Amino acid sequence: MDLSSSFHHIPLNDGNSIPVIGLGTYSEPYLLWVTHLLPKMVYPGLERTLKTLQLDYVDLFIIEMPIAFKPGDDPYPKDENGKYIYHSVDLCATWEALEACKDAGLVKSIGVSNFNRRQLELILSKPGLKYKPVSNQVECHPYFAQPKLLKFCQQHDIVIVAYSPLGTSRNPLWVNVATPALLEDSLLNSLGKKYNKTAAQIVLRFNVQRGVVVIPKSFNPERIQENFQIFDFCISEEDMKAIEALNKNIRFVELLMWSDHPEYPFHDEY
Ligand code: A2P
Repeated sequence: MDLSSSFHHIPLNDGNSIPVIGLGTYSEPYLLWVTHLLPKMVYPGLERTLKTLQLDYVDLFIIEMPIAFKPGDDPYPKDENGKYIYHSVDLCATWEALEACKDAGLVKSIGVSNFNRRQLELILSKPGLKYKPVSNQVECHPYFAQPKLLKFCQQHDIVIVAYSPLGTSRNPLWVNVATPALLEDSLLNSLGKKYNKTAAQIVLRFNVQRGVVVIPKSFNPERIQENFQIFDFCISEEDMKAIEALNKNIRFVELLMWSDHPEYPFHDEY
C-alpha cells in the first residue's frame, strides 16, 4: 500500500477531489469569515485574499460558520457592553456569491463548515441551486462520531472534513475540558498497541477509513509526520465497530459564547 497521502483522495461532487488528510491550522485564510457573509462582500473579499496569498485561485473555499456578525474588518465585533454584535444574512444569497466565485475561476470547489442538517437542507433545496456544497467541515472524532450527520452528508454526496480529529489541544479558553481526553482512551491505546500505532494514528485512520477527511493540527514536526503515517495499516471491521461504540456525543468545541445567535448550529440534534 502506498505510504504517502498524495495518492489518497476522495472524489467531490463537482468532479474535483480532496486529499483524505491535510494540515490543520489555527488560521485559514481561504475561508469566509462570519463578518464577511454579506453576498456583496464575498467576491471582493476573496480577490483580496488571493492577492495577499499571491495565488490565482484556491482549491476549496468554505463558509466558516452559518452565523453572521456585524459586517466589517473587526473579526469579533462587540458593543460597549462586550456583547457580540450579530447580523442577519440570507445564507442562500451568500451561497450564490460563492457559486459566482467558482464560475469566475477564483476557486475550484465550494463548501461549508459547522452547518447542521437544517442549514445544509436550506442550501440543497435552494431554487436554482447551481453547485452543491462539496464538503461540510465539522468536529468529528470517536467521542463525537457524528453518525447521523455523516449519513445525511453521504446521502447527498457531501464529504465530511473533520476538524479537531485528535480531540483538540484542550485549551480551556475554547474547549470543554470537563470532557474526557480522547487520546488517553484505554481502548484507543490498546488498539494502538495491537496495530503498532499510536492512539492518534488510530483515531485518524478510523475517520479516513469511513470516508471522513481529517485535518489534524500540530506544531511538532515528528507528530506531523506521525499523523501522515496512516496508510500502511487497516483497522478490522470489528475494531471499527468498537471505536464507533466509543461515541459519547460530546462536543469539545461548543462555541457557547455564540449560542444565543439565531443561526447557532449546535442546538439541533445534528
Ligand atoms: P502539538 O502541536 O504539540 O503536536 P486537533 O487536531 O484535534 O485540534 O488536535 C491538536 C492537538 O493535538 C494539539 O495540541 C497537538 O499538539 C496535539 N497533537 C497533534 N498530533 C498529535 C499526535 N500525533 N499525538 C499526540 N498529540 C498530538
